[in-house]
Amino acid sequence: MTTEIAKVKILGKEIIHVGYDVSSHLINTILNNCKSSTYVMIYDSNVEKVPLLDDLKSNFHKQLNPESQRLLTYVVKPGEANKTRETKADIEDYLLSKGCTRDTVIIAVGGGVIGDMIGFVASTFMRGVRVVQVPTSLLAMVDSSIGGKTAVDTPLGKNFVGSFWQPQFVLVDIKWLETLPKREFINGIGEVIKTAAIWNADEFSRLESNADCFLKVVNNQKKMANGGFYTNIKLILDHIFKLVLESIKVKAEVVSSDERELGLRNLLNFGHSIGHAYEAILTPQALHGECVSIGMIKEAELSRYLNILSPTQVARLTKILAAYGLPISPDEKWFKELTLHKKTPLDTLLKKMSIDKKNDGSKKKVVLLETIGKCYGTSAHYVSDEDLRVVLTDEILVFPFSNIPTKPVTITPPGSKSISNRALVLACLGKGLCRIKNLLHSDDTKHMLEAVSSLKGANITWENNGETVVVDGKGGDFISAEEPIYLGNAGTASRFLTSVAALVSASASKDYVILTGNARMQERPIGPLVDALSSNGVEIEYMKKKGSLPLKINTSKSIFKGGRIELAATVSSQYVSSILMCAPYAENPVTLSLVGGKPISQLYIDMTIKMMERFGVTVEKSTTEAYTYHIPKGHYINPSEYVIESDASSATYPLAFAAMTGSTVTVPNIGSESLQGDARFAVDVLKPMGCTVTQTATSTTVTGPKIGELKPLPYVDMEPMTDAFLTACVVAAVASNNSGDGNSATTTIEGIANQRVKECNRILAMINELKKFGVKASELPDGIKVEAVASITDLQVPQSVCTYDDHRVAMSFSLLAGMVQSSPVKPVRILERRTTGKTWPGWWDVLHSQLGAQLDGAEPITFSELPNTDKHPSVVLIGMRAAGKTTVSNWCANALDYKLMDLDVEFEKRYCPKDVTIKEFVATHGWEDFRAKEAALFEDVIANYGDKGYVFSTGGGIVESAESRKYLKKFAFEENGLVLHLHRDIEETIKFLNKDPTRPAYSEDIGQVWQRREKWYEECCNYVFYANHCDTQTEFNELRRNFDFFVKRITRQVKVEIPTRRSAFVCLTFADLSNHLTELEEIVYGCDAVELRVDHLKDYSPDFVKKQITLLRMCTDSLPIIFTIRTKKQGGKFPDEDYKAINDLYTVALKSAVEYIDLELTLPIDLQYHVLNNKGTTTKVIGSHHDFAANFPWTHSEWENRYNQAVSMDVDIVKFVGTACHFQDNLQLEDFRLKHTTKPLILINMTDRGKISRVLNTILTPVTSKLLPSSAAPGQLTLAEINQMYHNLGGDLISKKFFVIGQPIGHSRSPILHNTGYKILGLPYKFEKFETDDVEKVKQKLLSDESVGGLAVTIPLKLDIMKYMDELSDAAKTIGAVNTVIPLGHGKFKGDNTDWLGIFNSLVNNGVPIKLPNDTCGLIVGAGGTSRAAVYALKKLGCSKIYMVNRTSSKLHDLKKDFPEDFHIEVVDSDSQIGEIKEPISVAVSCVPADKALDESLVSKLKKLLAKTDDSKVGFKSTLLEAAYKPSYTPIMKLAKEEYDWNVISGCTMLVYQGVAQFEQWTGFKPPFKAIFDEVTKK
Ligand SMILES: NC(=O)c1ccc[n+]([C@@H]2O[C@H](COP(=O)([O-])OP(=O)(O)OC[C@H]3O[C@@H](n4cnc5c(N)ncnc54)[C@H](O)[C@@H]3O)[C@@H](O)[C@H]2O)c1
Ligand SMILES: [Zn+2]
Repeated sequence: MTTEIAKVKILGKEIIHVGYDVSSHLINTILNNCKSSTYVMIYDSNVEKVPLLDDLKSNFHKQLNPESQRLLTYVVKPGEANKTRETKADIEDYLLSKGCTRDTVIIAVGGGVIGDMIGFVASTFMRGVRVVQVPTSLLAMVDSSIGGKTAVDTPLGKNFVGSFWQPQFVLVDIKWLETLPKREFINGIGEVIKTAAIWNADEFSRLESNADCFLKVVNNQKKMANGGFYTNIKLILDHIFKLVLESIKVKAEVVSSDERELGLRNLLNFGHSIGHAYEAILTPQALHGECVSIGMIKEAELSRYLNILSPTQVARLTKILAAYGLPISPDEKWFKELTLHKKTPLDTLLKKMSIDKKNDGSKKKVVLLETIGKCYGTSAHYVSDEDLRVVLTDEILVFPFSNIPTKPVTITPPGSKSISNRALVLACLGKGLCRIKNLLHSDDTKHMLEAVSSLKGANITWENNGETVVVDGKGGDFISAEEPIYLGNAGTASRFLTSVAALVSASASKDYVILTGNARMQERPIGPLVDALSSNGVEIEYMKKKGSLPLKINTSKSIFKGGRIELAATVSSQYVSSILMCAPYAENPVTLSLVGGKPISQLYIDMTIKMMERFGVTVEKSTTEAYTYHIPKGHYINPSEYVIESDASSATYPLAFAAMTGSTVTVPNIGSESLQGDARFAVDVLKPMGCTVTQTATSTTVTGPKIGELKPLPYVDMEPMTDAFLTACVVAAVASNNSGDGNSATTTIEGIANQRVKECNRILAMINELKKFGVKASELPDGIKVEAVASITDLQVPQSVCTYDDHRVAMSFSLLAGMVQSSPVKPVRILERRTTGKTWPGWWDVLHSQLGAQLDGAEPITFSELPNTDKHPSVVLIGMRAAGKTTVSNWCANALDYKLMDLDVEFEKRYCPKDVTIKEFVATHGWEDFRAKEAALFEDVIANYGDKGYVFSTGGGIVESAESRKYLKKFAFEENGLVLHLHRDIEETIKFLNKDPTRPAYSEDIGQVWQRREKWYEECCNYVFYANHCDTQTEFNELRRNFDFFVKRITRQVKVEIPTRRSAFVCLTFADLSNHLTELEEIVYGCDAVELRVDHLKDYSPDFVKKQITLLRMCTDSLPIIFTIRTKKQGGKFPDEDYKAINDLYTVALKSAVEYIDLELTLPIDLQYHVLNNKGTTTKVIGSHHDFAANFPWTHSEWENRYNQAVSMDVDIVKFVGTACHFQDNLQLEDFRLKHTTKPLILINMTDRGKISRVLNTILTPVTSKLLPSSAAPGQLTLAEINQMYHNLGGDLISKKFFVIGQPIGHSRSPILHNTGYKILGLPYKFEKFETDDVEKVKQKLLSDESVGGLAVTIPLKLDIMKYMDELSDAAKTIGAVNTVIPLGHGKFKGDNTDWLGIFNSLVNNGVPIKLPNDTCGLIVGAGGTSRAAVYALKKLGCSKIYMVNRTSSKLHDLKKDFPEDFHIEVVDSDSQIGEIKEPISVAVSCVPADKALDESLVSKLKKLLAKTDDSKVGFKSTLLEAAYKPSYTPIMKLAKEEYDWNVISGCTMLVYQGVAQFEQWTGFKPPFKAIFDEVTKK
């Protein structure tokens, strides 16, 4: 199929050609008009893959004269990231190398990136050569290729360097669009709609009517074998051709009149001023067209706010953008997920807007729209920040009304919904032309119009830019539609159309009509109406659920007979209206009798009857029978014009404004004859309150009394106008003039009970929000009582007004907000501005531009990211009974320094009489009551303490109640709270429960209970901790350490830091870690992370994997975990397409707060976004890609594309693994590494040939270990091998010497300690002794030697050395001694003291919690240098008091003076002093020589102090660390252990921990602790 070629003129020449499948025309045009010896076709590597390009190239070639002409081709890397000066230079070098000269013609084939960049190349190459644009993306076709703007990006901004360079031709072959990815396609539509919106109203309407078919076709895009896409645009060729052509025409016309963008061309920037600001933040995740779409809405809203654009036009724009698949707000869920929940703070947006190229200085300019198809003026306009803020945020600030109109104002609120719906049905049933004005555009009207059109019952057109709908009715002739009629969730439409369907006749091909809707619609009732019609001869069949849509109405057999119809009308008046309106078309006159009691909403029935009369049919009410109507046979005669009455509820707001401010407001189309109940508001409410009300049949005018003179309304029954009660309340709040009778000015409103079940409980909402203004209100069974403030000046400024997502609450309070007088002026903040959109999107605009209110926008308060020190997310622990919640919640509170609240205890406190337990409560009140109260309690504590740093321990059954689950989920997933599921193996739990006779058994089988609850625990928690079963105290200690670390991680107290220096991780390929627990510690030696290859595990079930995570953490001291599921395609073992399982396992990983998730870039996008959107701050994502098959050398575009993808997904680390076939491949890899620096990058080649890439990789190099059964990938090296090779190659790992200095050091274990570590990690270091007591020698020999990597300082140099230090660590300063010298380079040194770490780590690795419970005391024996380090260590552990004893306590008093007060050192002088100690003493360090006998008095004191142990109070076993390591079991250890049951740690432990702390400081590697310990302690 080919179309004709359309030609468009630009700047006087007809050089833009548009067609479909027009390659040969394209080639001929170039060859005939741009004669040259050299043609260079340039495109990107995506376009290179499109088959159309091959055709183009080969045909072009065939047409050349081989003697004198040549075609060169050049491929560039795709994407905005390559639109750079560097790429431009590469192209130029290429052209020069091929001997291109001034006669060269460059053909740019591609999207906007190619067009812009190649255009720029052409404009400067040889001072300018000819260029032909062949745009291949929609955006390029309609926008970038036209107009001659060319550019490249610079690091500081997009398109900052470029030129104007007009192409010879722009040759548009829309066949290219067939392969364009869907998102790019839709992206281009953004510009198309923009162009129509500013310039071409006809085209805009055409676009509106073709939206559905467009999206259908584009959504059907197929994925091709070569990785590309295919869209069958032939199905909508006409539409696409026109939309491209029309867009081009406008752009060409505008450019022709203003080539250099001095005026008119400005208009093309509609949507761009604000759009660019969003783009600047959301790029590269969001595309240009998407941001422009959002920008257009905002700029249109701004135009409406400034009273320039009508609400209908904004609605049209919003609708069309959404219909073409574009985002209309940055808050749309799918768009938010796509843009990774990036925030778009108001300030940033305004700042980004102020650097727009189009501004003058920093004043902001925006293109304003006057109507669809026409801009306001011929250029952009200055706008104020205030006005911008209003449209950019959802929180509005209302300033005191100060600009109250003095002249009468006329305001027309939007049309009434009920009247709109009825008018449409009547006009469609009627005969003749009817122009309907002020129609409310809603889902119902939209579906109704579409349905009537497809049933051919009326011809629908629009006039006056969509403001007027013209219905040309056929008098009730409808014909079966081909397709089912889809009604979405439009309730009124479905009811009205069901009766209409009864009037449809069969067509030649169809004898039935199907009415259907969305899932929700298929639940909504329609039974009574169907019953009534069925019994009247209409054949209706339920296609799914009885009583609901979809319905199949037989159109050949059905006869709407008429006569007597009985209908139950107590459920919905819409059934009645539906039959009433269609009744004149029945075979016989109808008598409709409403049965079952008083019909609901009589008012709406009356409305229908009155409107039928207006359309020429008079209904008679039976004089003999109640609720019975006679409808004659006939048909409607359409009035030529029908103006829909404004919504009377909406009208109450401007009228109340008049009342409250003493001004005059007229609503011109609601009067005494109105059909709506709320129309009585002015007369029945405002008038008695003291307003002057003039009402004609069709209009209402209200003038308020002077401010302060409104009178209260002692009693009003608002039953006929319930929706207006909210308005009445705010008027009543200021109706304080009770003519001096001394009573309070109270207004009582009744008849509004139904308002409790509207958008929110409106009565409560009003009471709550009025209270914030200082207005008292109280609830009545059927109403509300409002007490006016004594004087306007008593109104208070609330912190903010909640709207409960209820439009009426928002609009009412916008009035009261303006009445508050504050000085200095403080505006009232109303949340959720957009909620008024439900009935009156333009309310704020009216308030601002017609009623003179000063408004501003504000950043949501919750949005502010100020470090808020008093906000600490609380932790809720859930899980089965006996999972260990009590113990663990204690750990949790202790580790975080949070307060603990047991909700069961709290329950008893609040709901049980004294001494009554929960169990007894349940026995008397039943489970239901218990669960309900439990949920209420939970909601309450979260509301009060949810961000106040609490640990809540819950009863195991809390998840049994749906209400509680709702609150748990809300807390976890919406309020940044932490719901932690403490998961313990159920078999273990059962065993445990059976062992413990004191616990009452479950009445139900516990296994069953678990089965029922498991999924609930799962869905309610955002974190899970799997508590493995522990056999020994050591394991239990490890579990606790592991848990402490975990909760610090999830409360963001400890953040995941991606290493920046050389680092490695080891890949575990075990099937089950529990078989390898002893080796694990050794396997991870020197590594900064450990990779759990989940695909290698023998069991992929979530529980098994959770358990593996905990085991791994326990064995590796919580080393960061990389969680990897490698699929088969990517070289692993996991089934490729089992995305459900992958998804579930990622959920496990996220909830377990693993530090890294390896995410394959080839996984489906929704899976990737699941991880990216849920990773929070606890997990980093490694975007990985592997090429096992050696398909792609590093120069291939595959890698470039993958890199761009990874950047656009904003992963934290990129990991690419290629395959080296030749050594050369490593050089290309290094080149790639050098050029890609925006993200931390792991880049390696597999195979033996690729080993060097592993050596040269910097961060997180994957390594193997000799202890692993197999390496995870070919060519993998151990860490030691890598270090050795790196050193040998001359890498940044040079030989160094280290020394221990002091005297005597003959027995020093330091050399063996460090040298063992060096050997294991392959470090080129050597550790030696340097014996001296003269610090000057050290200075001369060692501190001047550059090859010295560090010194371990011992007695007697620890103080002497300090004078040569340029810097001291906090520890060295506080302890007052240096034991570690760290060279800083350039002859400078830092002094540190790691003795305290030796003490600290010995304790915490042997059962002492890393943060001691409050009121835990410590004990230190001795007064020497080690004691000082011990003081520092115990303080770091959190000791509340540190008791110190020594043989002579005078030395201790001196020591105490050297430490700050808050160390709370208590020198123990006498035994009696010990008697007074109340708190438990639970940690002790002995720092006295152990080879001499102990002093008697010291032993006596020690005994009393050691007796202060109290394990049950602190929750861990009291522990004593011995600093002396000779003998290995000292008298003090013996005393503590044997007489007072203390846990004791020997001195060599401390020695090793101290040494490895130095090791890590000096080498940057994690020390291989166990190997070192074994070596050092070996006899
Ligand atoms: N000069 C101007 O007046 C002007 C106006 C608007 C935008 N621009 C510039 O245009 C650029 C954006 O243009 P874009 O959206 O076309 O981006 P683009 O060139 O990057 O193309 C989008 C993607 O689609 C691919 N692609 C293009 N045509 C294809 C086809 N037929 N089949 C399959 N894949 C295809 C591309 O390789 C690319 O990956 C930006 O750099 C922007 O600054 C310039
Ligand atoms: Zn644009």
